[in-house]
Parts: sequence; structure tokens; C-alpha cells
Amino acid sequence: MKKILDHMKLKGYLPSPELLKLPESELTRFVETLTPASGMNILTQDLYTKYKQQNPATKKIDLGSSKVEIIRSFGLNKSVSSTNSFVSFYNYRFARLSEFVKRRPEMQSAVSIKHLSDTNASGDVKFVGMIVDIRYTSNQNAILEIEDPTGGTRVLVANSKKELFLKVKELVLDEVIGVIGSRKGNIVFANDLVFPDIPSSFEYKRAPDNVTAAFVSDVHIGSVDFLPDKFQKFIDWTRGRVGTEKNKTDAERLAYVFVTGDLVDGVGIYPNQDEELNIKDIYAQYDAFEEYIKQIPDHINVIMCPGNHDAVRLEEPQPVLGANLLKTLCQYKNVTLVSNPSFLTIHGIDGFSGLKTLMYHGYSLDHYCAENEYIRNKGGYDNIGFAMEFLLRKRHLSPTHSASPFISGSEDSLIIDPVPDIFVAGHTHKGAVHKYKHIDVLSSSCFQKATSFQEKLGHHPNPGVVPLLNLKTRHVTVMET
Ligand SMILES: [Fe+2]
Ligand SMILES: [Fe+2]
Repeated sequence: MKKILDHMKLKGYLPSPELLKLPESELTRFVETLTPASGMNILTQDLYTKYKQQNPATKKIDLGSSKVEIIRSFGLNKSVSSTNSFVSFYNYRFARLSEFVKRRPEMQSAVSIKHLSDTNASGDVKFVGMIVDIRYTSNQNAILEIEDPTGGTRVLVANSKKELFLKVKELVLDEVIGVIGSRKGNIVFANDLVFPDIPSSFEYKRAPDNVTAAFVSDVHIGSVDFLPDKFQKFIDWTRGRVGTEKNKTDAERLAYVFVTGDLVDGVGIYPNQDEELNIKDIYAQYDAFEEYIKQIPDHINVIMCPGNHDAVRLEEPQPVLGANLLKTLCQYKNVTLVSNPSFLTIHGIDGFSGLKTLMYHGYSLDHYCAENEYIRNKGGYDNIGFAMEFLLRKRHLSPTHSASPFISGSEDSLIIDPVPDIFVAGHTHKGAVHKYKHIDVLSSSCFQKATSFQEKLGHHPNPGVVPLLNLKTRHVTVMET
């Protein structure tokens, strides 16, 4: 409360005793609307009543309570740069991902690669390994070089096995898979390839309350291409002020807003960026961002993580945005700041265990949409939900070594564990809704029109597309601002 009182004095106001009874966040919102005055003026209840008449809060239906719990949000773990530490980081990744593969019923009794030669006379083998090379013979059979910490082997996948060969097209370097096959000499002839994947046994959870979550990202404030009218329309919608009757009902039920990175355009992100900025100071960009988010009613939880344009390190996990950037919002009780990626539970109340949510800005999606033929053939950026499903099947947000910059710390924050109920990403500027098993796979779009760089690459962003998830029905609708 002292901070807000000091802020009021700086603006030239003192509150009357009745106003001091208001919740701090409400008083903050009120003060933000005041223009600085000369001398010292008393803020009366009448002035506040006038403000409320001009700024009616969203009509709030009974949402029950709402709740955000952080499961995993990563701090500034130090980079590990020695070769030995790097090896142990990859051994950790291998151990975790191979656990998921070995839990698959068909992979029971898998052995390590060094024990492949101990197998029975038939030569049938099952093992788990990391892919270090994929190449093709002159007659288009695939040869996979696969390693585990005990050794390596070659695996041949015959292109005559049509269904199995489709799985080869999905493979990427450095991912961990299971192999079922038969060994002849130094080579294993594959009969099946098994991904870590999401088990089918997960319950399809529905919240007891009829509440909604909205997913936005890539606001890019500071860019000349930022679309202020669209973003303000979204903010006004959270206040129940715009849209169709259905939009307004959705807003009344709104309990959670996710902002999945690239809150601002940043400074020095790419060469000559300053020519495309209308706010060139990074702190001023975040100040402008705060002015929008502050208008969201305080009964709505706002959850935010950084992206590659934000002013934290680029390497993943990107840490939480600090109080130096989000000076006011970091004090708001309804605002939760988390790392990229992060795992949260929302709406775990009244005996309901909540919906686990994986929030990832999505940097690695560029790599797979550009470099991976399998993803490109499925539509690439125009089918981004499928590219996100692809990552879920790998149980890793960036399985290939160079797909996104990362910090090799004591744990691998990009492993997908626990299994989420909701997987949300941004970054590609393509709004999309997809389902994979029990998981709602959601891509929020952006509030920036196509930049000259995106136009050069032939990208087609769809700004202002906002997926809305009803937590009770698990039905997703798309709102366009
Ligand atoms: Fe972005
Ligand atoms: Fe991004």
C-alpha cells in the first residue's frame, strides 16, 4: 500500500479514508486513470463513483474461485560448458526419455545396446536409443545409427514395410526411440519403431465450473507493425465491452488469460530492427504493455511467460520477466509470471485436481516447420497444431540439438513431463486449435501484422485470433478481434 500512496502523492493526490478501504489493486487501477495535478488534491468517494460509472467492471457471473498453481517454472540455472557436463546433460535427457519408451507395453524387457548380442537364437531384440544419424541406401532403405550410453548399432528399416517406413519420415536427429526387430550380425532389421508418446490411458478431465481460458501471445508492442486496435479490442472484451452476445457471455466466464511470450518487440533482436520500432526504449515498451494488461479486471488470472523478443536471455528455459520490466504487474495478485517453458495447474479447486497446462513460446517450431519434410508435408506453419502434436509424441519441446538455443543445466527443462491437459504455444503468429489424445493443443496468434521479414519468408500470420477453452466442456471456440 505504501508504494501506491507514494505514487498518488507524486501525481498530486491524497486518498480520503473511505478510499483506503478499497483493495490495493482496485485503488491502483483508479490512480492509473488520473492525470497528474498541481498541488495536493483530495480524492473523494464521489470521484471514485464517477470513475466506476465510466469504467464499469465486467459483469461477473459466479465463477466459484479460480486458482493457478505453478508445477515447474525454471530459474536462471547456469550454463554447463565443460564436455563432461554436456555429456551428463545428454545422459540425463536419455535416461528420462527412455523411461517413457520403456513404459510402453510393447517395450517391456528392452535391453541395453551392449546386450543385443546376448539375445536368443531367433535374434529378436528390443532396445531404446538416441538417433545420431539417418541415411538412405541406393534402393531407399533407411539406415539409422542409434546409441545408448553402453554402445551403438545400425538399424535398417526396409521401405517395403510401408506403414513402418512412414514412421521413419517422422524421425529427427537426437530423439529417443524404441526399436523392435531382429538382429543379424551387426545390423538390426526393424519390425517396429516406438516413440515415447503420450499414453492413451489419461483421463479426459473437465472442471466443475463453467469457466473459460483465453490464449494470446506475440503482442510485439514497440513494433511499427503492432496492431493496437486489435489488442485493445481483446482487452475491452475481457471487460465485457465488445463483441456479440456470445462473446460477452464468454467474457463473463473468463477466469484465465495466458500470454505466451513476445510481449514486446524488444530491442536489438535482429539487424536494423530500430528502423521498424516506434518505441525504441525497452523499458518504455514494457510500460506500454502494462498499460493494456492493467485494464483486465482483477478477478481474471493473467499468466505470462517470455518469448524470444523479450528482454531475458534467449536460451531456454527463459527465466521469469523481472520487476525491472513489469514494474506494476509484478505486484498484482491476479498476475502470475512464469518461465518459458513452464508447467502449471489451473482451476484445481473444490476437489477437482485442475488442468495441467504446458506453456511454451515455441521457438523450436521454426526449425521443424522449415527443416522437417514430414512437418512441411503436413502443412508446416499452416498446420501448427500438428507440429505441436509432433513434439508431444517426442515428449520433448526441442528434440534436435540445434532446434532452439538452450542452457544445459542440471536438468532438461524441455522434457514434456508431466503430461499436460493443455499445451499452448505462440511464436508462429498462427492461431490454431488441435486435439491430441486428451490434450487441447492451442496456438495463439499475434497482434502484429506480417513484418517485412515474414513477408519475405512467405509466412501468413492471422493476427487477433484467440482460442477460448471452456474448462467444463473442454470445447474450444475461436474469437477474432
Ligand atoms: Fe512473435
Ligand atoms: Fe517469438
